[in-house]
This record gives sequence, structure tokens and C-alpha cells, in this order.
Amino acid sequence: MDKLVIQGVASLKGEVTISGSKNAALPIMAATLLTSEDCVIRNVPMLRDTKTMVALLKSLGKKVEFSKNKLTVTQPAALKHIADYKLVSTMRGSFCVLGPLLAKLQKAKVSLPGGCVIGIRPVDLHIKGLTALNAMMNFDNGYVIAKTKGLKGAHIYLGGVFGSSVLATANVMMAATLARGTTVIESAACEPEVEDLANMLIDMGAKITGHGSPKITIVGVKKLSGVNYKVIPDRIEAGTYVLAAAATRSNITIKGANYTHLMSLMDKLEEAGIKVINEKGIIHVKARKVIKPVSVATHPYPGFPTDLQAQFLAVMALAGGISVITDRVYPDRFIHIAELNRMGANIRREGTNAIAQGVKKLYGAPVMASDLRASAALVIAGLAAEGTTEVHRIYHLERGYEKLEEKLVALGANVWKEKA
Ligand code: EPZ
Repeated sequence: MDKLVIQGVASLKGEVTISGSKNAALPIMAATLLTSEDCVIRNVPMLRDTKTMVALLKSLGKKVEFSKNKLTVTQPAALKHIADYKLVSTMRGSFCVLGPLLAKLQKAKVSLPGGCVIGIRPVDLHIKGLTALNAMMNFDNGYVIAKTKGLKGAHIYLGGVFGSSVLATANVMMAATLARGTTVIESAACEPEVEDLANMLIDMGAKITGHGSPKITIVGVKKLSGVNYKVIPDRIEAGTYVLAAAATRSNITIKGANYTHLMSLMDKLEEAGIKVINEKGIIHVKARKVIKPVSVATHPYPGFPTDLQAQFLAVMALAGGISVITDRVYPDRFIHIAELNRMGANIRREGTNAIAQGVKKLYGAPVMASDLRASAALVIAGLAAEGTTEVHRIYHLERGYEKLEEKLVALGANVWKEKA
């Protein structure tokens, strides 16, 4: 397996262009199952996860061409209803084929995704929402077996212990587009990725209002058509580069991102003394020598994203004081603390809080993480650290960051891949 070698301290400069959003693209790709007509999806990041979704769509009977960030999905033969363990277990995003398959075929057998290093990650809200739409849901041998005599619209409360659920909202919304009657989802996820999916479904002929708010209304239609759709930019990738600049006290320019999707991060950066200017969609980051300590808690959108918690902690590891970082979405998502401490950080965990006592310097070390965003935090720390950092298992980074090494090198970082 490859490792990423980083020679710090990096001084980043220049521009970086943000790719299409992974977490918007995955449910959008699943939504192509709702029609037998041709779909073209643009701005799809070429990543391990999107390639896994391509493999899953192919296994379900779609023909997919994927090149230069453009996906063309056609359906040469009948759809199949079984989503296999091998594909679903490697990526939780693939569970969102359940809603579309059920809506289109009245049956689906989809492997349960299981937990992962960031937490237990149940699917009870997906099951609750689809059951309310008149589906019978059973579990057998690690699979969800769903059947319906016809989906019917319903008034559904989809909030869970940790707030709304992104993929449960996506699954139920997709299924409801072809249900008989009206569905109202209360406590729906407001994430831009859910809004993007709704916009794509609307372009396919779905009747959806309220997307982007906690109350989404879907009036079922008989049929959805093909579509030509462009995926939104990846706000988490953009946030990761902003935080890399903050940690290395660099000035960089970020192109192609949506600033309004990053308001919660920008607010915290201002508190930390880092200047971020939004100039007609181009973001300029002007970092300062002294990073002020800032406490933050993650929440569903528009709150601070859990997917930037690890990267923010890497910056706070270098702040001039104590900060408390709390994860209210995934309370166990702190695998990166031990690795950051191996690089000289002084962070301790107390329950759902990471308490960082900022240090003056981080030092390069061999490190490893078993989750995508934790790995991104280690890259940020490696850029800011003195000496050589080796980030092992870059498989995780390849799941979510398109051309990471290339983009960092273009920003002036001394980074390369090596066989581990
Ligand atoms: C999406 O996962 C993202 N994945 C995650 O990004 C992201 O961390 C997460 O949303 C939160 O923003 C994709 O979009 C592919 P949730 P999802 O359901 O939808 C609990 C990354 O690094 N919950 O919104 O699976 C759950 O345990 C990844 O790119 C239930 O209790 O997350 C969590 O505490 C990692 N029951 C909270 O809700 C359920 O049925 C929010 O999870 C579902 C979720």
C-alpha cells in the first residue's frame, strides 16, 4: 500500500481548484436508478468512492462510462434488485441505492453497511422512513430485504438521537419521488448535498419543495426522465485546503468553491484570527503567525461539519492556548488524536470532547489513520510539522480527495507518494 511523504514545514502559495462534491455525487449517482432513460452527470470527482458506486450501478444492470469527471449512465437491460455485500460494505454511501431500487422495482435486497471507525452508524432512520412509505423491511443474513405493494406518501419525522441524517433523508426523498401521493419529511437533513440531490431529481421531473430546509415536501410522480446535471463543489475539500493554509500560516486562493456552504467554518476562522475574503466566488485565505484558540462543536448543517472536525483540530493543535472540540454528530470520531500527539500535539479526549493545548511546533512522524477525514488532518499536520511525515494507508485519502498530491504540489508543498 502507498504512503504519502510530506516534507515540512510547507509554505503554501498560489491557487487550488475545488473538485465536485463526493457526498453529493454518491446519492446523485444512485438516483439514476430511478429512471431507465440516459443520465449525464458532470463534475463527478474521480475517486475510489465514486468508482465503487460505478461498480455498484453496473452490478445492478446500468451501463456506466466515467471519464474526465463526466458520467454517462444508460440502461441496456432490466435492473437487478440485489446490492452485494462486497460493494456496500466498503462504502456506506452505497446504501442509498435502497430507496431508488424499492421505488423502481418494488423490491430491493441491499447489504447492511455495518459500522466503521467513526462510530456504529445505524440505519434505523432509513428503515423507519421507508417503512412509513408502505414498504415491508426485513433483515436476513446481513441484508435488508425491502418489498412494497406500491409506495404511498406519508408524513414522516426523520430526526434521530444525533439530529437529522443525510443519507436517510436522501433515501426517503428518492423513494418518495415515485410514491403515490404526498410525502412530508420533517427534521430532514439541510446539507447542501441533499439540496443538490433534490435539484437533480427536480430536473428529472420530480416535484420537491422545501429542500435545504428541515421540512421537505415531495409530491409523487409516475415517472422520472433522464437528466444532464452538474454536481456542486466539495465544501469539505475546500475547507480542508483552507485549514491547510491556516496551519501552515500561508496565503492561498481557492477557486470553484461555494463560500456560503462554508459559513460555519469561516466564522470560526475569523475567531481564530485567520482572514478569509470571498471575492466573487474566489476565496482568499490570509493566515496569521498566531492562531487564536477557538472551541467548536459539530452539528448538522448549517452547523460546523463533522467532516471538518479532525482538520480543525489539527489547526488548533498549533493555537496559542486551549480549545475544546466537540463532535455531536459522531461522538467517537477522534481516532486522529493519538496520531496528532505522536507528532508533538498535546490533545486529550474527555468523552465527546477533544481538549487541545496548543503547541509551538509539530514534528514529522510516521502516522496512520483509518478514516478519510482523520487522514486529511494528518496531512495538514504533516504540512505544518518540521521534518518528514509519512501518512500511511493513503487508501483512505484516495476515497475522498481528488488529485490531492498534485494539488498540494501545485501549492508549493513538498509531497510525494511512495510504496510503503
Ligand atoms: C453522511 O453520512 C456523509 N457520507 C458523511 O461523510 C458525513 O460525516 C455525515 O453524513 C454527517 O454529515 C455521505 O454523504 C456518503 P448521517 P451519513 O446519517 O448520511 C446517526 C465523509 O468523511 N444515524 O447524517 O451516513 C449517525 O450515527 C463521510 O465524507 C442514526 O442514528 O450520516 C450519526 O450520529 C463520513 N440512524 C448521525 O445520525 C440512522 O439511521 C448523522 O449521520 C442514520 C444515522
